[in-house]
Amino acid sequence: MNIVIKFCGMMAEVKNVGFVFSLALIFLVAPIQSEGSTFPEQIHIAATEDPTSVIVTWITFASTPDSTVLWRLHGSAIKLQPVSGYSTNFNDGKVKRFVHRVKLSDLKPSTKYDYQCGSSANWSSLYTMRTLGSGPDYSPVFLVYGDFGYDNAQSMSRIRAEVNAGGIDAILHVGDLAYDIFEDDGRKGDNFMNMIQSVATQIPYMTLPGNHEYYQNFSDYRNRFSMPGGHESIFYSFDVGKAHIIMFSTEVYLFIEFGVKQIGIQYEWLEQDLKKATTPEALAERPWIIAMAHHPMYCSTVSFGDCNRRASIIRAGTLVAHSDPLEKLFYKYGVDMFVSGHKHIYERMWPLYDYQVLNGSYDAPYTNPKGIVHLITGSAGCRERHDTYNEQPDWLAFVNGDYGFTKMTVHNGTHVSFKQISDDQDGKIVDSFTVIKEKPGYY
Ligand SMILES: *[C@@H]1O[C@H](CO)[C@@H](O)[C@H](O)[C@H]1NC(C)=O
Ligand SMILES: *[C@@H]1O[C@H](CO)[C@@H](O)[C@H](O)[C@H]1NC(C)=O
Ligand SMILES: *[C@@H]1O[C@H](CO)[C@@H](O)[C@H](O)[C@H]1NC(C)=O
Ligand SMILES: *[C@@H]1O[C@H](CO)[C@@H](O)[C@H](O)[C@H]1NC(C)=O
Ligand SMILES: [Fe+2]
Repeated sequence: MNIVIKFCGMMAEVKNVGFVFSLALIFLVAPIQSEGSTFPEQIHIAATEDPTSVIVTWITFASTPDSTVLWRLHGSAIKLQPVSGYSTNFNDGKVKRFVHRVKLSDLKPSTKYDYQCGSSANWSSLYTMRTLGSGPDYSPVFLVYGDFGYDNAQSMSRIRAEVNAGGIDAILHVGDLAYDIFEDDGRKGDNFMNMIQSVATQIPYMTLPGNHEYYQNFSDYRNRFSMPGGHESIFYSFDVGKAHIIMFSTEVYLFIEFGVKQIGIQYEWLEQDLKKATTPEALAERPWIIAMAHHPMYCSTVSFGDCNRRASIIRAGTLVAHSDPLEKLFYKYGVDMFVSGHKHIYERMWPLYDYQVLNGSYDAPYTNPKGIVHLITGSAGCRERHDTYNEQPDWLAFVNGDYGFTKMTVHNGTHVSFKQISDDQDGKIVDSFTVIKEKPGYY
């Protein structure tokens, strides 16, 4: 049964009653203020390249005298300490937004901090964040998903429950947010950001661009997020536990009207980043190289797209010259995993290179794999609903069409595990696998 609820003039179509309650709760916690307000909303935090810093980002609809975060160690009795940042603005259609960013530094790993953001005009309520951990025994746990919108946000309450339970270190959203972030003069994006605020204020919410963010050269996306690396949140990498995580844009290959130069700029950066991440010293410290982007290189879903073509642009190079093939680059540097979305489904492949299955040792495909392990996780829930599949290629290991999301744990230097959590089946784990490597690279 579909229930349509109205709240503060906004509509959300949802499919179960539990979700209605939690949605109502979000708005009680974070009321959406009318335009022209200096009330901080859409608050979210992002990790930086440095584990001791975090960036807090929020939006107001009027300019404020300052952009400030007040913070202290969680539960401490000391007065909240101010840190100031800066604001930028952008216009989306008829609506002007002010984006505020404050960097908190000298934070301790795996530590909780209380904070409030805003300005002398208006303060948010008090939130608590937890920083990423560090050290040799740190085993970070991530929720990973793509294609998560405001309408039909199926997995929202389950994601919130996971984060509230305290076991998640960060969320990695691999593109297609809000559906569509720019719609209704960007109000769809505002609604989405307010929806995820309950989790994105607690742990880093890391993003990359998907095709649904294409509008005006990804302007909404670039303006609203604060990913590390100085490339407007389009591509970056960060180290966490035993993993080097690379987040980048496959959209530069597909929206060439915004400039083909972007392909080369990103490719160059990817190669430099991989070089640095794969020196013997770097690999000794962080053996896992996990790359993520929105469009997959392989998919079994038969629908319009790039991934089900053998000469996929993302996998094999650009349409123009078939240059810059990403699979070749990743294979050269021993990238372990490539995680994507776009297809509204969960698909796990056997280790692969150039359509060849390169299973690992001891009859265990993921133990010392000889190729890249590909995963699609694009079923968190959006208004475009599910994708279907009707192909069973020999490189496809498992497919599941339920709404849900992936939990990824970087246990240590030899084990990374994945669980696919179904929202349709009340949190049932519908797939689970572990990639085991005795040493970095391929065998
Ligand atoms: C916050 O700003 C609104 C106007 O945007 C004002 O009505 C309200 O009183 C302010 N609240 C505080 C606590 O300053
Ligand atoms: C689109 O944005 C990128 C930055 O992400 C910029 O380098 C490029 O020049 C822009 N393209 C156009 C056509 O504005
Ligand atoms: C890879 O492993 C899977 C599972 O054991 C098996 O079904 C498949 O045939 C293997 N493929 C190759 C090429 O070894
Ligand atoms: C790495 O983690 C896996 C899974 O938790 C565990 O089985 C294994 O013993 C660990 N290895 C080391 C060296 O701690
Ligand atoms: Fe997409």
